[in-house]
Amino acid sequence: MLKLGIIGCGTMGKAHAASTKDSPYMKVSAVCDVFPEAAEALAASVGAAAYTNVQEMLDHEPLDAVIIATPDGLHAEPFITCCKAKKAIMLEKPFATDPEDGRRMLEAMHENGNLVQMAHLFHFLPFYINMKNAAS
Ligand SMILES: NC(=O)c1ccc[n+]([C@@H]2O[C@H](COP(=O)([O-])OP(=O)(O)OC[C@H]3O[C@@H](n4cnc5c(N)ncnc54)[C@H](O)[C@@H]3O)[C@@H](O)[C@H]2O)c1
Repeated sequence: MLKLGIIGCGTMGKAHAASTKDSPYMKVSAVCDVFPEAAEALAASVGAAAYTNVQEMLDHEPLDAVIIATPDGLHAEPFITCCKAKKAIMLEKPFATDPEDGRRMLEAMHENGNLVQMAHLFHFLPFYINMKNAAS
């Protein structure tokens, strides 16, 4: 069973956690949010450990992968921290909102050889698939 960590316990963090609830392949083992109440509420709903600091979570939990669902302008620091910890990462879109952040993130990812997937979920919505098919 894959051990998953979720960073950012807002709308998308909760949605990702809910989507794994009945999975035979993965379990949310730990969640992290700078607001303790947010981390504790999501942790309680999925039976995970709650953290308020990404590095602390990575130091204490043997996670296989993380989902990063922090606000748009706050992807860089958790992403780079997780890269250095050699985690597989699913990062919510957009990759970065600042070019310098983007450069630092790519550098960390290439240096550490992480498996990274962007969460461009709309690619899978029938409305967008139909639009793409109609245009091609
Ligand atoms: N893929 C999609 O379809 C889709 C849809 C909506 C939003 N998003 C993206 O998902 C991301 C999250 O959006 P949201 O609506 O869930 O935001 P949100 O504001 O509801 O939640 C973000 C959470 O991250 C926490 N946070 C901030 N910095 C943190 C840090 N350093 N460590 C831990 N937690 C931290 C905040 O306290 C907050 O609880 C955004 O980048 C957004 O663009 C993607």
